[in-house]
Amino acid sequence: MKLWGGRFTKPTNELVEAYTASIGFDRRLAKEDLEGSLAHVKMLGRCGVLPQEDVEKIAEGLEELRRRLEAGTLEFDVAQEDVHMNLEKHLIDLIGPVGGKLHTGRSRNDQVALDMHLYLRREIDEIIELIVDLQRALVETAHKYLDVILPGYTHLQRAQPVLLAHHLAAYFWMFARDAERLRDARKRVDMMPLGAGALAGTTFPIDRESVARELGFGRLYENSMDAVSDRDFILEFLAAAAILMVHLSRMSEEFILWSSTEFGFIELDDAYCTGSSIMPQKKNPDVPELVRGKTGRVVGHLVGLLTVMKGLPLAYNKDLQEDKEGMFDTVDTLKGALALFSGLIRTLEVRRERLARAVAEDFSGATDLADYLVRKGLPFRRAHEVIGKLVLHCVQRSCFLGDLSLEEYREFSPLFDEDVFQALDPRRVVDARTVRGGTGTGAVKAQLERAARWLEDW
Ligand code: ARG
Repeated sequence: MKLWGGRFTKPTNELVEAYTASIGFDRRLAKEDLEGSLAHVKMLGRCGVLPQEDVEKIAEGLEELRRRLEAGTLEFDVAQEDVHMNLEKHLIDLIGPVGGKLHTGRSRNDQVALDMHLYLRREIDEIIELIVDLQRALVETAHKYLDVILPGYTHLQRAQPVLLAHHLAAYFWMFARDAERLRDARKRVDMMPLGAGALAGTTFPIDRESVARELGFGRLYENSMDAVSDRDFILEFLAAAAILMVHLSRMSEEFILWSSTEFGFIELDDAYCTGSSIMPQKKNPDVPELVRGKTGRVVGHLVGLLTVMKGLPLAYNKDLQEDKEGMFDTVDTLKGALALFSGLIRTLEVRRERLARAVAEDFSGATDLADYLVRKGLPFRRAHEVIGKLVLHCVQRSCFLGDLSLEEYREFSPLFDEDVFQALDPRRVVDARTVRGGTGTGAVKAQLERAARWLEDW
C-alpha cells in the first residue's frame, strides 16, 4: 500500500514503479531527511500544531531511525519510491499511526528541497577544505623547488624560462578563485525552503524562522513557488565544480606531459602510478589521466541540469528528481580528485638535471637578448629583427645562442659586447622579472607570502 494510495484503484505498474523511484540514489539524503523532519516536528510542537506528546513520540522514532541508519540496518524499499516515503513508512511501522502526523504542513516538494540544501551545504564545506589542502601542497612544493627553472611555454613552444614555483603558484590562484566561488555559491545553498508546502505555503500556523534557526540557515526563501522549484543553488555548485575540474584537468595534462620521456621534467611517485599488463617497462600516470577524463562528466552534469531546468513551468515537476545523481557524482568526483592531487603533488620528484639542460638548450633567452640591444639604444622593433636573424642563423647551424662567439654576434650588430653571454643566462633572465606577479625569485617569494596570507585569512 502506497502512502499516497487513497485515490488509486489499481497497484502501480511494475515498470512505472522502477522508473519513477529515486530511492536507489536519494537514499544518500537519509541523514538530512531525518534532520529536517526532526526540526519540522519540534516546530509543529512549539506552534501548537501537534500536541507535545505526539511530538515526543515522533522525535523518538526519528532518533531511532537515525541510529539504525548509522548502524546500517535501515532497509529501503523501491515500492516506497523515495527516501522521504521510505523513512515515513519506517516511522509509522515503528511508532504507529501517530507517525503519520509528521507530514503535517509539509510536502515532499519542500522536504526534498530542504534535504538538498542541507546536503550540499555540508559537502561544499568539505570540498573547500580539500581545495585548501591542495593549495597548501602547491605552496609547500613551490618552496621545496624554489631554485628550479623550467621552460615556460606559449603555443606549447618554448617561450621564456620561469620558476617552477611560479608555474605551480599559478594553480594556487586558480584554486583560490574556485574556493571563493564555492564560498559565494554557498550563500544561496544556505537558504531554507521548508514551509513552502507543495507550492503555495500551508494553512497551519507554522514558524519557518525558527526551523531555519534550528537548522542553521542564514536566510529563508521568500516565495513558496520559488522555494520548491529553485535549483539555481545546485547549478551554481555544478558551475563552480566544472571550472574547478577544468583547472585540475589542465594541471593533469601538464603532469602527464612533464612525466613523459619526451619532457622528463618530473617523476610521479610509484604509489600514484600504475603499470601495464603487457609492457613491463610502463609506468602510467593514470591518476591525472582519469582526473582529466572525469572532467567530462562534471561538465556534463552542469549542462545536464541546465537542460533539465530550461523548460520547466512553475512550480515542482518530477523532472527535478533528475537534479540528484549528477550532483552526487560531482561531489564524489571532486572529492576524489582533490584528495589524490594533494598527495600526488606532495610526492612528485622534480628532475633537476633534465630541467637545467632543457633551459640551457633552447632560445628562450631571445626576448632578453632583444631587451639587451634596446638598453644599448636600438629601437625594440629593430632589436627583435636582429635577434630573429641570429636565431635563424643558429637554427641553420644546429646550435643555440650561447654557442656563438662574440665575433659572430657582432656580425649581426656592433652593439654586442662580452656581457651578452650573461644576458642569456636563464637565472638572470628569470630574476630580471622583478615586477609584482612576475617570475623573478624575489617576486615569486613575495607571491608565495601573499599565498600564505590568503591561506591564513581564509
Ligand atoms: N523524489 C522526489 C524528487 O526527488 C521527491 C519529491 C516528490 N514530489 C512529488 N510531488 N512527487 O524530486
